[in-house]
Amino acid sequence: MKLTFLRLASLVLLVAPLAGAAPLPAIIPLPQTVIAREGAFRLSPQTQIIAEAATRDSARYLAAHLKPATGFAFKVKSHPTNPSAQGAIFLRLTTANPHLRAEGYALTVTADAITIEGADDAGVFYGVQTLLQLLPPQIYATNLVTGVDWQVPGVQIEDQPRFAWRGLMLDVSRHFYTKTEVEQLLDLMAQQKLNTFHWHLVDDQGWRIEIKKYPRLTEVGAWRSGVGFKLDPQSTTSYGKDGRYGGFYTQKDIREVVAYAQSLHITIVPEIEMPGHSIASLSAYPENSCSGGPYSIDATGGVFHGVYCAGKEETFAFLTDVLDEVMDLFPGQYIHIGGDEVPKDNWRKCELCQARMKSEGLKDEHELQSYFIRRIEKIVDAHGHHLIGWSEIREGGLAPSAAVMDWIGGAVEAATNGHNVVMSPTKYSYFDHYQSTNHTAEPHAIGGYLPLSQVYAFEPLPARLPAKFQSHILGGQANLWTEYVANFKHVQYMVFPRICALSEALWSPRDARDWTGFQQRLPAEFSRLDEQGINYRKGSSE
Ligand code: ACM
Ligand code: ZN
Repeated sequence: MKLTFLRLASLVLLVAPLAGAAPLPAIIPLPQTVIAREGAFRLSPQTQIIAEAATRDSARYLAAHLKPATGFAFKVKSHPTNPSAQGAIFLRLTTANPHLRAEGYALTVTADAITIEGADDAGVFYGVQTLLQLLPPQIYATNLVTGVDWQVPGVQIEDQPRFAWRGLMLDVSRHFYTKTEVEQLLDLMAQQKLNTFHWHLVDDQGWRIEIKKYPRLTEVGAWRSGVGFKLDPQSTTSYGKDGRYGGFYTQKDIREVVAYAQSLHITIVPEIEMPGHSIASLSAYPENSCSGGPYSIDATGGVFHGVYCAGKEETFAFLTDVLDEVMDLFPGQYIHIGGDEVPKDNWRKCELCQARMKSEGLKDEHELQSYFIRRIEKIVDAHGHHLIGWSEIREGGLAPSAAVMDWIGGAVEAATNGHNVVMSPTKYSYFDHYQSTNHTAEPHAIGGYLPLSQVYAFEPLPARLPAKFQSHILGGQANLWTEYVANFKHVQYMVFPRICALSEALWSPRDARDWTGFQQRLPAEFSRLDEQGINYRKGSSE
């Protein structure tokens, strides 16, 4: 602890701007340690990128990202052709640095060479991201930029993430974004050193993943009569030939996105919502609901959102088939099964659900929900994956090996009982909320208030959680629900710059968190986003 403190203390000295000193690099998320060094490395057409086989992908990524702005066609080689190796960028794995854990890297820049050493290839990749941020922001331009001196300031950096799960959730059900747009979001996540993309693929308003065995899921479930949510029909172009609003990803699309994410060291966690939030699925296959329709309306006119019947064996057969196809497509450890906001009214009135409760000895509908999730957990576990679900999967008893995504509580209880937890509390990580109290200056949002400063204050470790259970907190993520976000430019606006604050909360050492320093580094990040043509909220930080 002492050592960490000293290392951080020296970092704080370094980032304090000294009169006349060169500004320190505006790296986001803030690395563990940054020590400024004499001199600078200058990129030139002769610069070589030297990579061993294990780091070749990161080297190619670097070359590809240096080329558009500089126009230099860097070659990736396994050995320097120039024996003094001057002017080379070395990328390699190391086992010699005892400080470096998974995803960690050390980056050294001198006038002669740049060296990135990673504990693994992900570490090398994050070293590359930091190197790009050390260059002038025009390096992010997609076209040739002339008149820029492509200098990297001398520096020694050692860095690794605080948390293993650094995520972003995108809801593609309420509104649909193309495969290309999703891949662009993945590019931007990688720049922020985020490594988990939670793809909310199904919900009441749209089913977005092709399932071969049940074609109606996308023939019917991927489309609705209009854009909905009282939004301007012109705010999106996601219309089919027949004029219906929607869209879906084919299994080929999904495989390509998964492979693309892997190349960026991002794991995709697919979410297939159940037993609630399932109107789209039940519109296509209404026989899986209690009533035989996608939703029920009670005597008072109340609508019970689409909920699968927990009494019918056919429901479980259907979901087994769906999950079999989903698990074939997504190699990551976790499969998200939703589980949030399940109204129990249908189950209370359904003879089959009530019979199930009787035969299984379940005392109420919460226990019936727990029964439902446990059955699904067996299917997921049998495929070698793990189940994760929202806070409410704890109701009626948490399934034995399930992980919890905490949005409304339950983290401390779950972690204390040995379950893994991902933190995504509404108070700090709901990116559908307003970024300002001045609503007239903002695009219409669902409500709430989540300014940049509040995201920056996100502390994933619950204060009440004893130290011995803290390793169960895998990390955290932001969630972008998209009821009022009809197009991808608007997605960018809701995500940036809040994702930069989230990234720092999840990556950087807890004691290094510095809101003032973050704000000083933000303009450079805005320049990087400008160069890439990304939409973001530019207003004063709140
Ligand atoms: C949620 O926001 N319903 C998980
Ligand atoms: Zn039922």
